[in-house]
Amino acid sequence: MSSTDARPGETKKGGPTPDDPQAQAAARSAERDAISEALESRLMAIEAAARFHHVELDRDELRYPKGSTPSPASLVEWVRDGGLWCRAVRMRFGQLLKVEVASPVILLLRDGSAAILTTVDPARNIVWLKDPRAPSGDPPVAVDELRLSQVWSGETMLLRAIRELTDENAPFSFLWVWGLVRQEGRLLRDIVYGSVALAVLALVPPIMVMTVLDRVLTYKSLSTLSLISLFVVLATLYETMLGHARRKITYIIGARVDAKITLHVFKRMLRLPLDFFERQQAGVITYNIAQVNKIREFMTGKMMTTVLDFITLIVIVPVIFFIQPTLAWLTMACAGLIAVIIVLFIGPVNRAIGRWTQAETQKSSVLVETLHGIRTVKSLAMEPQQRENWDRRTATSVQLRLEASDLSNWPQTLITPLEGFMTRGVVLVGAALAIMDPASVNPGLIIAYMMISGRVASPLANLAKAMDDLQEVRIAVGFVQSVVNQAPESVNPAAGLRPRFEGNIEYNKVNYSYPGTKTRALDGVSFEVPAGTMLGLVGKSGSGKSTITRLLQGITRDYEGFVKLDGNDLREINLGHMRRAFGVVLQENFLFRGTIRENIIAGRPGMTLTDAVRAARLAGAEEFIERMPNGYETWIEEGSPNLSGGQRQRLAIARSVIHDPRLLILDEATSALDPESEALVNANLTRLGKGRTMVIVSHRLTSLTECDQILVLDKGKVVDMAPHLVLVERCSVYRQLWLQQNRHLEGGGVRASGPAPVLAQGD
Ligand SMILES: Nc1ncnc2c1ncn2[C@@H]1O[C@H](COP(=O)(O)OP(=O)(O)OP(=O)(O)O)[C@@H](O)[C@H]1O
Ligand SMILES: [Mg+2]
Repeated sequence: MSSTDARPGETKKGGPTPDDPQAQAAARSAERDAISEALESRLMAIEAAARFHHVELDRDELRYPKGSTPSPASLVEWVRDGGLWCRAVRMRFGQLLKVEVASPVILLLRDGSAAILTTVDPARNIVWLKDPRAPSGDPPVAVDELRLSQVWSGETMLLRAIRELTDENAPFSFLWVWGLVRQEGRLLRDIVYGSVALAVLALVPPIMVMTVLDRVLTYKSLSTLSLISLFVVLATLYETMLGHARRKITYIIGARVDAKITLHVFKRMLRLPLDFFERQQAGVITYNIAQVNKIREFMTGKMMTTVLDFITLIVIVPVIFFIQPTLAWLTMACAGLIAVIIVLFIGPVNRAIGRWTQAETQKSSVLVETLHGIRTVKSLAMEPQQRENWDRRTATSVQLRLEASDLSNWPQTLITPLEGFMTRGVVLVGAALAIMDPASVNPGLIIAYMMISGRVASPLANLAKAMDDLQEVRIAVGFVQSVVNQAPESVNPAAGLRPRFEGNIEYNKVNYSYPGTKTRALDGVSFEVPAGTMLGLVGKSGSGKSTITRLLQGITRDYEGFVKLDGNDLREINLGHMRRAFGVVLQENFLFRGTIRENIIAGRPGMTLTDAVRAARLAGAEEFIERMPNGYETWIEEGSPNLSGGQRQRLAIARSVIHDPRLLILDEATSALDPESEALVNANLTRLGKGRTMVIVSHRLTSLTECDQILVLDKGKVVDMAPHLVLVERCSVYRQLWLQQNRHLEGGGVRASGPAPVLAQGD
């Protein structure tokens, strides 16, 4: 049995002698083997740990630069993509001894391999390690600190299944965001300390003024004045720096929380099922997600300052009672009144803002819709309608906004005189007190009190505004929730089988209705496609052809019956794994901003220009790409205005075959093409289909004649399935469709002489 701590010695021993090239080459290849062997052990350790949590990791998902070994960071990313909690940390032996080995802990060894920590024994100062490559029956090996330090520098990977509240599966809520803010604990503490210090410093000027008025002016003492001045300068300096630091920390927290929320929300949005996006307008989704900014701004701005202001209050309130209790009571009474006013207005203001926000959403969806459909808007000269629509929505929104601000203006208005009294009224009351009882109240004290009590008023007024904002934020949270908290496409992205696909498809009594509809889009559909063959799907519009391909891609999984891939139930297969293994071309394909090469490669790891060229050739796109000014480096803008429909389509086909998928789905992929481009693509179909299963949906039956089988659908039911020639003979629905399209060829005859030679060629 190979113990983990013995291995690195083996790989390092027997280095090449510098003057023997053959030995050097042999040593290099041995070293390469050792590296890949070490990597294998690392991957096996991680897979074993993931399996412990019932997660099967897919090595195809591990991303790292070709020709190097994956860094701990990319390993962590790999495990996280698999749906587990994972972190790479640096540990010392002492810390290792304290680990509770509830689940496997992986030690990344210096030679690139790994060991699994199974048990620790703090009493004897040893840990028990297991070599991931050792047979499962082998017992772990006991290792002490000295031996471990020779092979392990402290790099450790921790995996966990249970997620914390602020993790990606937790529902989005106010508390969730607050949890993120709270994670910045150390910075928050610094801010609190800073705020207490600032609050104390805020007391300096009033006390100074009091002293100057009462002592310096009365006794005309210049030396006291200089001393006080020095003190004031120092305090101001300190206050300035502290304020700067506090703001800076707030910004840092804001930026960090912002990054975390944005990443999370985007990730969650991508996990939503396609039919969510089909049901919702893009404008509404965009608007809802943009509300995240409001929440973050509030959490790290308004809410933070309000909390900090309260800290100031805690420091100041005792001081005002100390200076003059009567005046302090007056101040507190005003504060209480302000609070009552705020509370009374919360509800109505809240509702008004809700109405306004709803109008805003509708307004922005008009904008997005117009932008998305701008071609149609322009070509149908729909500008006046759209403008009118926009005008109307804007008017509603503006009106509701005015109503809302009108309402929220009231508490502000009512609070202003109270605030005024707290700062200026006290002077008058103080003066009256001074006249009645000159011994206890003098002018300096009144001024000082006035200055301090101003600090009580402004936090309260801020609180009023914060309350207002809190309502708005609550609505914003609701908006974000309406997107982010939807059920994701698959609950656990890591779950499910990850088989190698052969390409055999089987539908067995599949029924499916779209949500909210009564009629069945698919009704008892059964058929089988052997691996490596071509299936054509025909039928009238709305007969369910696209639905069959949607089910096959796992876009919707709540159908009745079975869809099987190589005998595995589709619902048991990991979605990401499955879709990566497929190629899909639709009628309208989106090309991303970037070069042609980037669009063909579409972010797949390890693909090079050579692969892109091969795919382009297969799709019949090579010729036009090479005619482009910059060839494969030609830049495509959003919406690809510099490409024709046919060119765009051929790029999409190239993109879908670059990874050599076992299953290729073409749904009306050539319908929008001119006959010449269509002929080009069709001529390539057999080449495209070589070695893979193809499902082709097409309205033009001539492009399906070479298919091994053609499935005829009508109103969601399978009418027949056979090769073209047989269908023309025996299937009336098919014959009718064929005649409609090819009457000019046949001269009214039923026998399809046209496609026969093509088929003969294919054989
Ligand atoms: N997102 C959806 N929501 C509700 N019903 C839908 C949806 N998509 C399709 N349908 C309905 O399901 C049925 C089958 O639609 P499907 O898109 O599969 O037809 P198709 O054969 O691909 O038609 P076409 O040739 O026009 O593309 C139709 O009756 C359609 O109205
Ligand atoms: Mg369709």
